[in-house]
Order: sequence, then C-alpha cells, then structure tokens
Amino acid sequence: MAVDDFLRPMKPAMKGGSTGPRSVSFDADTNSVCLLDQRLLPHRVVWVRTPDHRATAQAIRDMVVRGAPAIAAAAAYGLAQGIREYGGRDLRRFRAHVRQVHATLLNARPTAVDPTRAMQEVLDAMRRGRTVPERQALALAAAEEFAHRSALECRALGEQGLRLIHDGISLLTHCNAGRLACVDHGTATAPLYLARERGIKFHVFCTETRPRSQGAALTAWELAQAGIPHTIVPDTAVGLLMQQRRVDLVLVGSDRVLGRTGDVTNKIGTYQLAVLARRHGIPFYVAIPLSTLDWHLRSPRQIPIEERDAEEVLCARGAPVVPKGSRIRPEPITVRVANPGSPAWNPAFDITPAELVTGILTPVGLFKPGELWANRHALGYRTGS
Ligand code: MRU
Repeated sequence: MAVDDFLRPMKPAMKGGSTGPRSVSFDADTNSVCLLDQRLLPHRVVWVRTPDHRATAQAIRDMVVRGAPAIAAAAAYGLAQGIREYGGRDLRRFRAHVRQVHATLLNARPTAVDPTRAMQEVLDAMRRGRTVPERQALALAAAEEFAHRSALECRALGEQGLRLIHDGISLLTHCNAGRLACVDHGTATAPLYLARERGIKFHVFCTETRPRSQGAALTAWELAQAGIPHTIVPDTAVGLLMQQRRVDLVLVGSDRVLGRTGDVTNKIGTYQLAVLARRHGIPFYVAIPLSTLDWHLRSPRQIPIEERDAEEVLCARGAPVVPKGSRIRPEPITVRVANPGSPAWNPAFDITPAELVTGILTPVGLFKPGELWANRHALGYRTGS
C-alpha cells in the first residue's frame, strides 16, 4: 500500500524556541508522528500524521520526510510510537515486538547514520525501565530528548558557522540541508539564518539537485521565506560558476561523516562539487550535528549507498505553470522526461574524501576532517556510539 493511504492531514504545533513549526514532532495523544509533507513543497504546504510505526517507516522511505537529522527524529519517534503500540505486559513478547519495530525503521533508508544513532539512544533509555509501561514512557522521553537536542545542536552550529559568512560573499549549497532536513534551523542553513538576522549581506547559489530537486524546490523555498537572496543553478553549471569566480565558499550538510577518517557522505553530486572547489581553490565546508558522526566504520567503502527507483531519474516532478499572479495552486504532477524504455541508475548519495574537505562545522567548533578522532570526546563519542 502507498504511504498516502495511511497519512492523515493535521495542523502543525509550535514548540518554544523554534523558528517555526518543527518539520518533525510527535503527538502523544494520538500516538502519531507529525510531518510536513516535503514531496509537495513548494507547491502545497500539507501537514500529515503517520498513525503507526509502519506508516512512519514508509513516510521515511517515500521521502515525505527527508534529510539526515529529520529522518533521525522521525525514526526515534517511530520507534517510540511502535513501542507504545504494544498492549500487553509480557516482557519477552515485548522485546520481540521492539526488535521488529526497530528493524522496520532501520531499513527505511540506509545511508544516513543519524537514524541508527537516534534509535540506539531510544533503546538504551528504554532498557532502564522495569515494566512495559515504564519502558514505553522512557522510549518516548528519549525520542523527545533526541529531537530537542538535535534542534539545539543545529542552532549552536549556526553560531559556530557565523565566522564563515562575511559581508558580500557568495556561497554555494547543494541539496537541502535546511530546516526541512532537520528538526529546526538546518545545518548548512543555520549560519545563513543567523547571518541574515545580524544584517550580513550575502548571496546563495542553490544547485537544483536532480533527480529529486531538493535544492530548487526546498532550499530555494526556505531561503525565499527567510528573505535571503539566492539563485538556483543547474547541477551542471557549477564548473562555470566557479571558473567565473562567483563562488567564495561551498557549504553543505552530510548524512554520515566517518569520525575515524573524516570522509563525508552526502547527496549525490557533492563529490563533484568538492573536486571542482579544489580545482578552483574554493574552501569546502560541511555542517553537521553530532548524530551525523559515525565512530564505527573504518573505511568509506563500508558506507551503504542507497539506490533509489530509476523512475526518479527518468521522470521529473513539479506543478503545472499558471499565469503570473494567479491564485490557482495546481497539484504537483510527475512527467516522463527520458526515452521510454531506457534504463537509469539512481544512487542517492556519494562520498567526498576527507582530503577535499576544508572543515567540518559542528555544534562544538570547526574541525579539519583529520582532527575529528582526536577530538572525539568533545564530539560526543561514547563507547558504542
Ligand atoms: O535524499 P535526501 O533529500 O534525504 O538527502 C539529504 C541530504 O543529502 C542532505 O544534504 C543531508 O541529509 C544533510 S541534511 C542536514
């Protein structure tokens, strides 16, 4: 069954200290995860809830919610949601149920490490309870704690990143590492929102980010709402843009940074941006909350790269064009672009080697990729994290 068969429309709730409604939250009364449906943006603003953990996993898979910190919060809430679905008192059966819920959510999208780490926090906290109801309450509290901390970390990395945003610069970002991709503030966008608040003048180039167009649809929507001057460029225009010296800085998010090596996994196309940036002597920064650090993997070859449906490459999604000034909001539609019958390959992420990365911006400071391991305790490393 498609995810749309499960989703229920809702109104968003505001949380104190947020810059707007959080892109992911939880409603304990209905035991549902509340999401802004990112597949419809910027054409429609529709808030939905997932009624059970399977629908939450499906919403992650179908990219109703996307971006590493946002899917981490959705997975943590989804795990708490599934744990709260259990109606019995028997601990042995409860454990089997929790294992099944965890596996369902873990397999939704494989590349980002944030959901794995967020769910581990929920499981660790839950195990401190003795009874099923105690464990259910602890699981939800841990999911709430993860989402809240993730938002605070993004705010903190924004403050750390302010030093990169000078008056008059132009920077380039890829995909969407904004509020939508996080619980709040964004990663790559967090310094931009703060810089804008402080009156710093700068310009942002957002790559279109085919095939799903997160840059053109989501980052541009966010920047427009914040009044930040920006220009959408085709992914293929970046070489020319850099050659013409129109980019001073590249700032992107990540789905998994290897703490041992500093290699960076991010949206497909990031690697070629980093190669071009090096060719043109442009600094290349990556902004992450602590949940994006993977302390386990020893080699980038071990990173699972998600391959999505070829249809995403073969088709394009958007809303029909309406005359300027029209109040009609047409439904988004999918159209076929490619030659019918031709196959396509659709890897969703790539890996940028540490040597191409100038710095990793975190809530606790800016590090060279090779400095992460030495600073692991400040960066939240725990045995087993
Ligand atoms: O496939 P998506 O849209 O989930 O990919 C998102 C990205 O690649 C982001 O850059 C990354 O998750 C960092 S978001 C703060």
